[in-house]
Amino acid sequence: MTFSVEKVRNDFPALKRERNGKPIIYCDSACMALKPKQVVDTLVGYYTEYTACAGRSPHMFSRETTKRCDESRVKVANFINAKDPSEVVWTRNTTEALNLGCGILELDGTETIIATSESHNSNIVKWMFLENAGKIKLKVLETPLDHPCEIELIEKAVNECESGKFLVSLAQVSNVTAAKIDVKEIAKIIHEREGYFLLDAAQSFPHMPVDVQDLGIDLMGVSMHKACGPTGMGFLWGKYHLLEKIKPLILGGETVSDVYIPDQIVMLPPPSKFEAGLQNYGGIIASGATIDYLSGLGMENIHKHEQRLSEVMLKGIAELGDKVSLLGPKDPKQRAALAAIDMKDINSHEVAILLDDMANIMLRSGYHCTHAFHHQLELDQGTLRPSWYLYNTVDEVKIFNEKLAEIIDVFS
Ligand SMILES: Cc1ncc(COP(=O)(O)O)c(C=O)c1O
Repeated sequence: MTFSVEKVRNDFPALKRERNGKPIIYCDSACMALKPKQVVDTLVGYYTEYTACAGRSPHMFSRETTKRCDESRVKVANFINAKDPSEVVWTRNTTEALNLGCGILELDGTETIIATSESHNSNIVKWMFLENAGKIKLKVLETPLDHPCEIELIEKAVNECESGKFLVSLAQVSNVTAAKIDVKEIAKIIHEREGYFLLDAAQSFPHMPVDVQDLGIDLMGVSMHKACGPTGMGFLWGKYHLLEKIKPLILGGETVSDVYIPDQIVMLPPPSKFEAGLQNYGGIIASGATIDYLSGLGMENIHKHEQRLSEVMLKGIAELGDKVSLLGPKDPKQRAALAAIDMKDINSHEVAILLDDMANIMLRSGYHCTHAFHHQLELDQGTLRPSWYLYNTVDEVKIFNEKLAEIIDVFS
């Protein structure tokens, strides 16, 4: 399987847009990825040709919707090497998946959740709420800047917890430090003490092969919209016996097989018990098309391409010397293709607006939903975050490097 970025770019209509006679450079994929026409066409196909609900009505449109939704679940399961499609629960996004996943705990105040300070708000705010309500004890490990998520740090925290009474929730790839963690090693440490490992795969699933059995994790949250998929779609993967133990967050139609008033409710098994009410069927079916698209390109190829982009970006940032500093590890092999750049006294939003105005470069500025981490590092001006994906080119990264250097020169 060969990977040609020029061929890939033809699949993304948004990349053909221009402003002021100049092409656009989209490098905000850690927030939201662009969509290939294959995914958009599938979504439009559902809305134009057979819009119906899955699993309920006996007619042709409904049967078609049901079949395609079932196929999508199988595609996702195969893609992540789940043991069975019933281990995949559709959610709106990673946030919902993590909220659901923590339900593996009793939440009776005796258990601990371990997270790190660079965690995305979706992997920390809920835990803070639970702690404030007396339902868990929370241990937030302060992430060292250049060695994010050190194994020793996790090991120490795990050893301080009561065996079998904790959950560790970590991002496989951080959306600010870009650090990749050693998931397999951490899983071993957690399981030696009979804890649970909930993996936030929001920034890894779109960019590298993710094999849930090989990684040895228990539960995982993913957003499809960061993986060229539809918005409002994600999933929770979990070992089936764990999903059986988790209580649904929302109840209603399709979560039960029978009901007798006043007090008899027969719940359906996972994943149905979690998927209450009519679903985002177009999104589910387009998620299947997303998996087809990524599989067709090959996750190893995508990862390799992005590593190259990352190296070019890191070289450009290094050339800026001490005018900027980079969050996360310096070794490109330990990093994903994104960077949160601290420009000292320069406000990150102002630079982002200038890049957009001057060069059609679209990227994110601010705290990137990691408020606590930015406060820990006293980065009041926020950071500038380019994040590259399968459709970006080396030339685009070079233009970003040049334009950033120009702007920083003007400010300094
Ligand atoms: C590391 C990480 N975790 C979780 C999330 C939350 O994803 P979503 O907003 O799609 O639920 C994000 C989103 O940027 C993220 O980067």
